[in-house]
Amino acid sequence: MQTVTVGLGERSYPIFIGSKLSYGEHVRDALPKVTDLMVVSNDTVAPLYLNSVKVSLEAAGFKVSECILKDGEKYKTADSWMQILTALLEHDFGRDGALVALGGGVVGDMTGFAAACYERGVPYVQIPTTLLAMVDSSVGGKTAINHPLGKNMIGAFWQPKAVIASLDALKTLPPRELSAGMGEVVKTGIIYDGEFFSWLEQHAQKVFEHDQAVLEHIVRRCCEIKAEVVGKDEQEHGLRAILNLGHTFGHALEAYLGFGTWLHGEAVGLGLVIAAALARSRNLIGDDDFRRIRDLTERCRLPVKIPDQMQPEDFLRLMRHDKKVRRGVIRYVLPQKIGAAGLYTDVSDQEVSGLIAEFKEAQRG
Ligand code: NAD
Ligand code: GLY
Repeated sequence: MQTVTVGLGERSYPIFIGSKLSYGEHVRDALPKVTDLMVVSNDTVAPLYLNSVKVSLEAAGFKVSECILKDGEKYKTADSWMQILTALLEHDFGRDGALVALGGGVVGDMTGFAAACYERGVPYVQIPTTLLAMVDSSVGGKTAINHPLGKNMIGAFWQPKAVIASLDALKTLPPRELSAGMGEVVKTGIIYDGEFFSWLEQHAQKVFEHDQAVLEHIVRRCCEIKAEVVGKDEQEHGLRAILNLGHTFGHALEAYLGFGTWLHGEAVGLGLVIAAALARSRNLIGDDDFRRIRDLTERCRLPVKIPDQMQPEDFLRLMRHDKKVRRGVIRYVLPQKIGAAGLYTDVSDQEVSGLIAEFKEAQRG
């Protein structure tokens, strides 16, 4: 088992990564005074893992109740969030209670937001069951639900008390979801650690063979990097924005195609390649680095081509709704080399239009 710490003073917490982890023991250490737990999961993950998690938590002395939501990004809504709050009220949860998120990023984000709001804040623990949630969403305390007018627009920063990433759960994860997780993994290498990126070039293929050592290294390194970034800039006043590399173009792709058509991590994958192309056209990176980013993304079985029907103006229209837009200016995170990235506010719409048109032309050839 590996342990990574997110260093936030009194709110610091551990991330446990490994196989056959003892949920009860780790949750008891994280929540010594808590008596009641509500495990929040969904109707795909609960039949697979709820029973074993519950048994382990009960053996550690907790009284455990459950709240099972419908599966899917389209249920990341105020209604589902209210369902969690109602379950807490019906079970008479007080300040000595806590929540446990058992699932991917959707369950994790909604449970965290319910924990942030219930009685003005109760503790929670993340048990991520997707690769994306293990390497990204369960760490760092961003919690949210979607609003019909925008993804993740309603939320709070509310840090968990512990994250327990049991790699065994990845065995039941559909391969497409593994690829989606790799979108965030490749992103992490590009923005922070060139050596890790090179290591991924050698080993990424093994993820799809469920190689435990490779998965453990990937989850640990991504958590270390995310912990470092969050420890320096918890509420995204500066540095934390680099974690959004690929997401501005990615959100536009998700919205254009209809949320759920491409998975979030798939859209991020192509978003990374478009951001790299923009960085190349600004001479921030060279042709060789661009190709390495595109090739690794493709080897992770992620899309690297813009859908034929999507035009430059579609990107610009949809990117205007991004949370990172300030006074009408779209802010782009761009790689500066493999291993570093920065935020740019001087990219004109014409520059982006030209770049997208060129990118589409090149993919035809
Ligand atoms: P998800 O939660 O929808 O999970 C993907 C699918 O896999 C779902 O159908 C789920 O039920 C299923 N699943 C989960 N674990 C499984 C397992 N072990 N075996 C079989 N099936 C399993 O999607 P995701 O990719 O985990 O998360 C995406 C969400 O995370 C988005 O809503 C995104 O906005 C959010 N996100 C948040 C942050 C953050 O910092 N808070 C960061 C990145 C993404
Ligand atoms: N996933 C982006 C962040 O946590 O800041």
